[in-house]
Amino acid sequence: MAELERARRQHWLVRTPMGFAVVTHEDATAVLRDRRFHSAFSMIGELSGVADSDYMSGRRDSILAMEGPPHQRLRRLVAGAFTPRAADRLRPFIRVVINELVDQVAGTGRCDLVADVCEPYPIPIICELLGAPKQDWKLFSRWATDIFRVFNNDLAADLPVITAASAELDDYVGALVEQRRRDPADDLLSDLIAAEEAGDRLSHDELVMMAEAVLMAGTDTTRNQLACSVALLVTHPEQWALLAERPELAPRAVEETMRYLGAVRGTLRFAAEEIEYRDVVFPAGTLVSVSLATANRDPDAFPLPDRLDVSRESRSPQLTFGSGVHFCLGASLARAELQEALPVLVTRLPAARLDGPIEWKPDTFGIWGPSRLPLVWDPPTATGASAAAGHQDA
Ligand code: HEM
Repeated sequence: MAELERARRQHWLVRTPMGFAVVTHEDATAVLRDRRFHSAFSMIGELSGVADSDYMSGRRDSILAMEGPPHQRLRRLVAGAFTPRAADRLRPFIRVVINELVDQVAGTGRCDLVADVCEPYPIPIICELLGAPKQDWKLFSRWATDIFRVFNNDLAADLPVITAASAELDDYVGALVEQRRRDPADDLLSDLIAAEEAGDRLSHDELVMMAEAVLMAGTDTTRNQLACSVALLVTHPEQWALLAERPELAPRAVEETMRYLGAVRGTLRFAAEEIEYRDVVFPAGTLVSVSLATANRDPDAFPLPDRLDVSRESRSPQLTFGSGVHFCLGASLARAELQEALPVLVTRLPAARLDGPIEWKPDTFGIWGPSRLPLVWDPPTATGASAAAGHQDA
């Protein structure tokens, strides 16, 4: 990161051992919005040397890998199910989930926030969104963990586990789709089944793909971002205190912590044709990584970019949700989850401080964050007041 930031002062495009990286806010945004650059998600099998495996040939095209008119059609059909209003409907449930997780640790005075809160947090929410019952939450958690191995840079070795989990998830979601067709409910699958535009509807395979994309894209991202955001707050105690005092700052705190330390630090594109962009010609097929992390610390977009300020009002958007046609479909839901969780954590774990070093996932992880975040705080006394009031040693 430090080297990329140094390089950003000289040029918008940096040559790295892994290829070219676009590092400024303006150019990262422009490349992500340029339709001549396509998502490299479709190349994950090729890049990992398993393109010819049964697993890759049996996969449906994920929305993340689609481009052009088929991608536009899909986004149009599903857009209504992912609006801020749709996410707001889940907020009461989200509040129950975060408070129940915090109930289990608040009285003890210490926890590993990653294992105790961040890891379990998104699963019930995604299951509620999809309409999967509570007794199946554990299944979803295991499938998500196994399928996420796809990002561990050892696809050849992980393939059997990933393939088995994908097959189980396929069967489960396929059956759920059939059930919702017969008996619609107030959930995302029923909304997607009903979604229609000019007589066009999602096919069975597309419904299964969308449900799986939501599970895959909406779980590990959210849990890692929550851990990144809390890691920042606990190492900036004045910001923890400010948010505890003014919980209405939660939406800004979410954007600011996602800007300062995003769980998705970059994404990959390839030139679908020869592209002339600014002073550079990219031959067709060139892989280009877009560094969301350095773009988010670009001083031309964010004054004093290395200062964390949860009350920051910014005209430039942080880029951790991406930009352009693949902009995160679940951004409203992710924002709702983080906006509900942060104020609960800073008020119910008063003046929490580190109880040992933060451990981070290896750099190879596509989605990244702390693997361990040990916190200690003063549990509430019998009178209900926190003994932390007056603690200044955080
Ligand atoms: C803090 C949490 C999250 C972060 C940081 C995040 C980040 C991202 C990013 C960067 C992309 C674009 C990737 C690219 O352009 O190559 C993306 C796409 C996507 N995200 Fe998220 N995401 C989060 C949560 C969610 C949630 C909760 C859901 C589902 C409810 C979700 C569903 C999706 C889907 C379906 C796409 C693909 C969109 C497309 O290709 O058209 N994400 N996300």
